[in-house]
Parts: sequence; C-alpha cells; structure tokens
Amino acid sequence: MTGSNSLPHPPTAPEADRFIAPARVNLLGEHTDYTGGFVLPMAIPFYNHATVTPAEDGYSFSSALFETTRAIALNDRSARIGQWSDYPVGVLRQLQQRGIEPPPFHLHLNGNVPFGAGVSSSASVEIVTAYALLAFAGKKLTLEEIAVLSRAAENEYVGSPCGIMDQFSIAAAKAGHALLLNTRTLHYEHLPMNQGALADTQIVVCNSMVKHSVASGEYGVRHRQVMDGQAVMQQKFPGLVDLGDASLQQLEEARSEMSHESYLRCRHIVSDNARVMLAKDAMFAGDPVALGKLMLEGHASERDDFACSCEEVDFLVDTAATLPGCFGARLTGGGFGGCTVNLVDRTQSEAFSAALRKAYQEKYDIVADVFVCDAVDGAEIRNTTEQTS
Ligand code: GLA
Repeated sequence: MTGSNSLPHPPTAPEADRFIAPARVNLLGEHTDYTGGFVLPMAIPFYNHATVTPAEDGYSFSSALFETTRAIALNDRSARIGQWSDYPVGVLRQLQQRGIEPPPFHLHLNGNVPFGAGVSSSASVEIVTAYALLAFAGKKLTLEEIAVLSRAAENEYVGSPCGIMDQFSIAAAKAGHALLLNTRTLHYEHLPMNQGALADTQIVVCNSMVKHSVASGEYGVRHRQVMDGQAVMQQKFPGLVDLGDASLQQLEEARSEMSHESYLRCRHIVSDNARVMLAKDAMFAGDPVALGKLMLEGHASERDDFACSCEEVDFLVDTAATLPGCFGARLTGGGFGGCTVNLVDRTQSEAFSAALRKAYQEKYDIVADVFVCDAVDGAEIRNTTEQTS
C-alpha cells in the first residue's frame, strides 16, 4: 500500500522469487489469539519474497527496503539488536533450537507489505524466512510447526507478546476463503467467501495511514490486562483452560475479582469469540447483512471495551457504514491506527473506495490507501528450478 493515487487494485504477486508470503487482514476475532480464542483472517495480495544463496561462511541478511545489512557467525547466539533483521534472525534461532543448522547463506528480502498498517508485515517476513531457510537446509516442517516457530521468534527474540493468528494465517490461507482458526488447538477450517449473496461482495481494505506511537507499548498493556483477567477466571472456574472457553455469564461472576480494565478487555475477547462463531454461520448462509453487522459490533467492542481504536479509524468505520453498498466495517489487526476492513457490494466497491477516501481526506487531510482485495493463498515455494538473487 504505497501511496499510489489511482484506485484500487493491489499489485500482483511477484513471479521471479522463489519464496513468497502474503499479508493478512482479519475479518473478526481480534486480540483473541493469545488466550485460546477464535480468529477469522484471510490473506491479501501484498507480499514479502525471499531469495537465499550459498555463502562462504556465516549468515547474512539484507533487504531491498532497508539500508542496514547484518552478518552473524554460524554459532552466534547474541540478543536482538532492535532493527528489521531481528525478524529473520529470530526465525533462524528457532530453527537452530530445533536442531536445524542451515549451511552458510545470504538471505535477501523484498516486498510491498506496508509497515505498521496492521496487516502483518512482520509475520509475513517471518514466514517467508522460515520457508526459505527450511528449503535451503533441506528440511521439512509441518505448516503448524512453521507457524508456531515463527510466532516464537517474535515472542522470544523480537520480544513482542503477539498471538498465533498472523503467522498461522499467512502460512495456511487459501484463495477465495477466510481461515477459521482455533488458536488453542490450531484446528482450522477454510470458509468459502462466495456462498449465496456473499459472492456479490468484496473486501475493501483501507489504510488510515496513521500509527499512533503508543501502539507497541499498548499492545503489551492490553496483553497483561487480559492475562490478569484470565488468571482470575481460571482460579474461579477450575477446568476453564483459557478465555476461549469462557462465557459472558462466567465473566460477570468473576467481575468483582478483577480490575475494571481487565473486565472490559476480557468482555471484548469473550464476545468476539462468540461473534466469530456467528460469522461462520453467516458465511455458510451466504448472508452479508449478518456478517457485516457482526463486523460493526466487533468494531464497537474493540473501540469501547478493548480501547484499541483511535479517532481516525473510528471515522473510517462510521463513514463506511453510511456509504451505499457497505455491509460492515471494522478495525483490523493490533489497533491504534492501521487498516479497516470493509465488506462491500461488489458492484459498488470502486465507488465506495473513492467516497471513503474523499471523506477521509476532507476530514483529516490524509490520503488513505484503499484496496479492493480478494483472498489469496498463503505462503508458497514457487515452482522454479533456479533461485534468483
Ligand atoms: C497483532 C498480533 C496478533 C493479534 C492481533 C490482534 O496483529 O500480532 O497476534 O493479537 O494483533 O488480533
């Protein structure tokens, strides 16, 4: 989503590189993925791609998007350095912890996934790195193992307490489908997005172009508030594994034993888990009205209970809801800026995109990137015999 003025189709997948991983948006189930809940993401056609070539000695990392390169010894085990290369190096560490020691290599990354827009640029880098390094080492892991190790790279090496949604969906997504994932069991289903009247809709992604500086810190704060609330629930209801199992009734019973913030955060999570299940029904029923309503309710819950929206994003969602052809809209991803995801009548999606962009520019003097997106496949190893550099 790089500032083009023309509307509104995203670029196509790069063909030349061997390993590619898309970005994702989430249709419903936000901040539910670190307490065993449900999520409903889909992959969108923005990509990171990787090439990996043999080196004389050591490991080196470069990116067409950053000036800094990084070289480390084969036995390097030093801590993160606070720059982009922490993501691929974190993945390498996880492979090494599993006994996978690739021969010396140079990994080069490129891509067009926007940073800080809530569409998972970091997980996309992690997954493409995992695919590239596994192939280079001549090893195979399951999709689940790749997602789990890529999340662990972020949790343990980069130091962000994210859940599993982004890595899993980028690895496992299927074109034309959303991915319903149980983040505790990692059981997943591909839900078709073309049932009934849903075949006449499209997903429109709107980048607010704002990322509030509190974003990374506030994610950690929310995470702690949720964990505190979940711990109270687990104590009170023996047998309750995590919030993925909890009901609103149980939360009310435990309310007085937790902080007001923890109560609100958990209320968002428990209610969003229920919304994901209802969204599954709406998708199979091919009912965009029901799905759109759930998205709007999900946004209100993120805004009011989880407190992870912001003025600009609320404006985009509120405006979208008034535009012809829009069934629903909400903030997607971690929050505090980033993108909205909109469910829009296919015949009106271009007019919708233009109208939303115009209203936003008039209000905030910001030109939003707006893209009409079909769901694409997850990460792939391209079937070429030659690696490109
Ligand atoms: C970020 C995290 C995910 C998830 C979302 C919110 O994208 O990386 O694990 O928690 O926020 O749903």
